[in-house]
Amino acid sequence: VITQASEEIKLESYVIGGFVRDHILQRGEPKDIDIVAVGSGIELAKKVAEILPHKPKVQVFKNYGTAMLRAYDMEIEFVGARKESYQKDSRKPIVEDGSLEDDQNRRDFTINALALGLNEDNFGNLLDPFDGIEDLNSKIIRTPLDPDITYSDDPLRMLRAIRFATQLNFKIEKESLEAIGRNKKRIKIISKERITEELHKIMLAEKPSKGFSLLHKTRLLHIIMPELTALEGIDEIEGQKHKDNFWHTLEVVDNIAENTDDLWLRWAALLHDIGKAPTKKFHKKIGWTFHGHEFVGAKMVFKLFKRLRLPLNDKMKYVQKLVLMSSRPIAIVDNDVTDSAVRRLIFDAGEDIEDLMTLCEADITTKNPNRFKKYHN
Ligand code: CTP
Repeated sequence: VITQASEEIKLESYVIGGFVRDHILQRGEPKDIDIVAVGSGIELAKKVAEILPHKPKVQVFKNYGTAMLRAYDMEIEFVGARKESYQKDSRKPIVEDGSLEDDQNRRDFTINALALGLNEDNFGNLLDPFDGIEDLNSKIIRTPLDPDITYSDDPLRMLRAIRFATQLNFKIEKESLEAIGRNKKRIKIISKERITEELHKIMLAEKPSKGFSLLHKTRLLHIIMPELTALEGIDEIEGQKHKDNFWHTLEVVDNIAENTDDLWLRWAALLHDIGKAPTKKFHKKIGWTFHGHEFVGAKMVFKLFKRLRLPLNDKMKYVQKLVLMSSRPIAIVDNDVTDSAVRRLIFDAGEDIEDLMTLCEADITTKNPNRFKKYHN
């Protein structure tokens, strides 16, 4: 249909970005398709809608020069090929009409700049100016232009790089990773909603620890979630050490991810020890303690949710509840109901008891945070 529409209004069109990438990687059913028209994307969208039997409504975003319609259970987005230049303090570029090459140049990663021709004379031809296919094969995240420019232009791309590396189990090219380290402070111009959208995607990946260790390595995590990075490190007094609670946490998150796809249970795993940094104390007789970290942690969950614009509804309360209760893992997992405190805990957990047990199980099955740290580094 897009081919027919393009021929009728005599413009070139291409399918570009995530659809092409995921098609080559055979990554399941597509949810959206991005179409680039050399000319007016809005006009092409209207023509496509006219041809489609169900005559879908075209949503036009005049300010962005884009249009969207729904067909075959997908969102099809149309944009005119463009050239972009950025100013220092904004993610909003200055936009001019451009060629397909200009449009590929403005893309975030080589694997997201792949385009397939949709006109009759070039149907299905792959346009891959930055060797994106090679990067797909060697599992590399790389920017088409100098990474310092790509990341500084749109700092959200630093998180996208880490998110794609986590979802696809790819490696971020060395220069790119270093550029993220150099540009990390610019993440401050990105809205919290955009940031959490990427964090959710990292959290829902098979091994979320990959994303969090990259966020840690690039020091982005120190800016986005200092509460978490405060858990890092091992103190030693009089020969007594405690475990590294940051790397322990990442191990718990991976363990939980093996058992559940529930986003909020995964968040609870990430935050389950968050109160341990501010409550850490050393006592001559008993060694390291974290008394009251559950209560402090639950309060910190509220502040963190508020700051990251995560929903302050029943999801937040659920995470708080699990954080508050997750410090009795062995007794909970063993369901040792002879202990009255545990009986109370089980009673309080109510219908969340299964989730609490899963979290506790994930907590006690961590083996060696230090080895985990070495693995990631
Ligand atoms: N894009 C970009 N820079 C961004 C966001 C998007 O260059 N900050 C480009 C990329 O070419 C990307 C395309 O726009 O492939 C579509 O973006 P989006 O829908 O956000 O991502 P997808 O690549 O489709 O992947 P996913 O659906 O998994 O988010």
